[in-house]
Amino acid sequence: MVDASMGEIMVTLEKINWLLANGESALNDSVRPGPASMFMKYKKAEVHYEPLGVVGALVSWNYPFHNMLGPIVASIFTGNGIVVKCSERCRWSSEYFVSVVKAALRICDIDDNLVQLICCWGHDADYVSSHPGFDHLTFIGSQPVAKRVVAKASESLTPVVVELGGKDAIIICDDYLKKKGIAGISSVLMRGTFQSAGQNCIGIERIIVSGDRANYEKLVENLAQRVSKLRVGSDIDQSEEIDMGAIIMGGAKFDELESWISEAVQDGARLLHGGKKYIHPNYPQGHYFLPTLLADVNPDSKIANSEVFGPVMSIMFAENDMKAIEIANSTDYGLGGSIFSTDFEKAERLSKILKTGNIAINDFATFYVCQLPFGGAKGSGYGKFGGEEGLRGLCNEKSVCYDKSRFISTAIPKVLDYPIADGKKSWKFVSAMNKGGYDYSLWQRCKAIWTLATNAN
Ligand SMILES: *[C@@H]1O[C@H](CO)[C@@H](O)[C@H](O)[C@H]1NC(C)=O
Ligand SMILES: *[C@@H]1O[C@H](CO)[C@@H](O)[C@H](O)[C@H]1NC(C)=O
Repeated sequence: MVDASMGEIMVTLEKINWLLANGESALNDSVRPGPASMFMKYKKAEVHYEPLGVVGALVSWNYPFHNMLGPIVASIFTGNGIVVKCSERCRWSSEYFVSVVKAALRICDIDDNLVQLICCWGHDADYVSSHPGFDHLTFIGSQPVAKRVVAKASESLTPVVVELGGKDAIIICDDYLKKKGIAGISSVLMRGTFQSAGQNCIGIERIIVSGDRANYEKLVENLAQRVSKLRVGSDIDQSEEIDMGAIIMGGAKFDELESWISEAVQDGARLLHGGKKYIHPNYPQGHYFLPTLLADVNPDSKIANSEVFGPVMSIMFAENDMKAIEIANSTDYGLGGSIFSTDFEKAERLSKILKTGNIAINDFATFYVCQLPFGGAKGSGYGKFGGEEGLRGLCNEKSVCYDKSRFISTAIPKVLDYPIADGKKSWKFVSAMNKGGYDYSLWQRCKAIWTLATNAN
């Protein structure tokens, strides 16, 4: 409940309030500088943001409220209708949440048919992705499914924003541990990793500590103690204090996790806690996985390269900051990341060579609540939702030009009028226009203007 009230409700309230405060100005006509040539300075250039029509959002199950409300509020705000396809894993709650949205629309005297929910099995999803009725699709999910969605959407040339999760690294520079100690950062690592049992696309998947081995060991020891104290269970009947709930997918997902963990141990990692599923005495059918801590993870191991999306904390040591960046850059993913250093300039420098779509300096994942455009680099996807870019992405960004003054308008000079009377003369005219407009030398430009004036007719 605590995780959901932050990861689901707070972020949604933030998004709605940001929209109300800033959405209109993000969609205001945008005035652009217009042409560089002095011969075209009388032109005014603007971009207008118009609704696309009907957009679609195929959203994942990990934040069933927020992942659905995000695209809905953005689409309605930009003047579009929206069809949301929810995951079959959260069909009931999605229907309930959409009924809330529809009630809100009716209260505002807006047609509640603007928001539609569909739910289907994976094999019927092709019908949705390829549907020519969509002007835009947002897909949040996994890489294999994304490839299929994009291929299907290409049948009707529908643009797709693709958000595919990540393998976010948090790099902790040596100076940070030296100056700030271990307690504070260790709390960040615990929350960043185990929040929502790790089922978070910008959860901390890799911890990379650079510089000093003794400090690294101290941090590992501290985390080992804290991880061993995490209590797993259910919040629903409130009969016990818990830190972490069940995870959505058990079964094959758990077998995979266990095999990645034992492979990591074979590759040299130390398993300090957990590593396997857990049968809860009161809820034997629940999908519980023990909070897991792996230290000395080999950057080549599967667990260091694949998105875990579960309660596994993986720690690595790097001799220096550049080695840390190298490890951080070495996966196929590039969604988010963090750099912790007391030297802000260094942190900024390092953040520039980290190949990700988002980065938090001395924090984790807060770029998301800051209402910035959100999306990944490399295998984490492309396109952005959220922020101004996200809103504008749901629009037909219409480029409009017109004459600044009603008294000047574009006329075709006589020498260029079809049929061309004198080819040599019109060539001279056009060459002079290019010289006059773009030559570096003021003298050449003046000469060109003279040529223009004497050759216009
Ligand atoms: C939109 O732009 C106009 C012209 O610049 C300005 O007067 C108006 O305040 C802007 N509206 C918003 C919501 O920013
Ligand atoms: C990744 O990290 C290395 C440091 O090893 C850096 O040189 C490189 O520019 C970074 N970016 C990419 C895209 O690899």
